Amino acid sequence: MAGQWNLNGYYDPAKLTDLYEAVRRRESTRLFAAAPCAEKWNALLAAADSLALPGVRIALGICDNSLFQPLFGLLMKFENVQRFAAVITQDAQAETLVNAGVSGEMFMLRAVALGLGGCWVSGTFKRGQVGIHTKDGEKIVSLIALGVPKRMPEPPLARKRKPVTEICPHYEEMPPALREVAEYIRVAPSAVNLQPWRITPAGENAINIAVSLPRLRLDLGIAMCHALLALGSTPAQFMLDETGMSATLTLL
Ligand SMILES: Cc1cc2nc3c(=O)[nH]c(=O)nc-3n(C[C@H](O)[C@H](O)[C@H](O)COP(=O)(O)O)c2cc1C
Repeated sequence: MAGQWNLNGYYDPAKLTDLYEAVRRRESTRLFAAAPCAEKWNALLAAADSLALPGVRIALGICDNSLFQPLFGLLMKFENVQRFAAVITQDAQAETLVNAGVSGEMFMLRAVALGLGGCWVSGTFKRGQVGIHTKDGEKIVSLIALGVPKRMPEPPLARKRKPVTEICPHYEEMPPALREVAEYIRVAPSAVNLQPWRITPAGENAINIAVSLPRLRLDLGIAMCHALLALGSTPAQFMLDETGMSATLTLL
């Protein structure tokens, strides 16, 4: 319900410190040298528990590379994927899918902070081969391929992104804290790199972040994860409308 979004106050900014920096180093990793070592796997298990918002479950699994299929021919092929995370919604509420985006991206950035890499995969995996048991009402909304990258990303990364003013037309007029939010959202991953977010002012100290289709709620959640990280400890309130396609961030 608007105004009651459980994102507010859920994460302790002090515990996210290494994720702010991980945003700079994250890129979609599809080619892996190895699976995470046991120590990092344990850290991922703990992260899966602590970073999942209410209504969301993150389950880790073992796989072989054939779970993932290439997108656009060989351009986006997967190599040596041995581990994955399944991002699961436990109910069909609009808000839960947005929460799945927030939680999954927090988890992804934790993996990057641990020196691992990953790639959201919501389309190009074989559903029948996942092997994660789901309870009634649960749905796997995406997988995240995980592992030690074959090549470590070296920032600054060359990213294929729209100019910031295309996703945020009033960028120049916004206060610095909200411009930083727009920049963090701009580098977020999105399905087929659609970058479907529209960021518009909603009063002097607030912005609205919206997507145009229900299936883009996951991408909205990913953007909200980046927004939250951009703010750090700056106090803010988040609201989500009942469609789950439009969120408002107000600086307090
Ligand atoms: C929700 C979501 C679903 C995605 N699904 C796939 C997929 O099925 N296959 C794939 O190869 N990449 C997939 N991606 C990765 C995007 O293509 C990638 O994030 C985008 O091209 C931006 O590149 P970057 O992540 O390296 O910044 C997905 C990303 C997101 C956020």
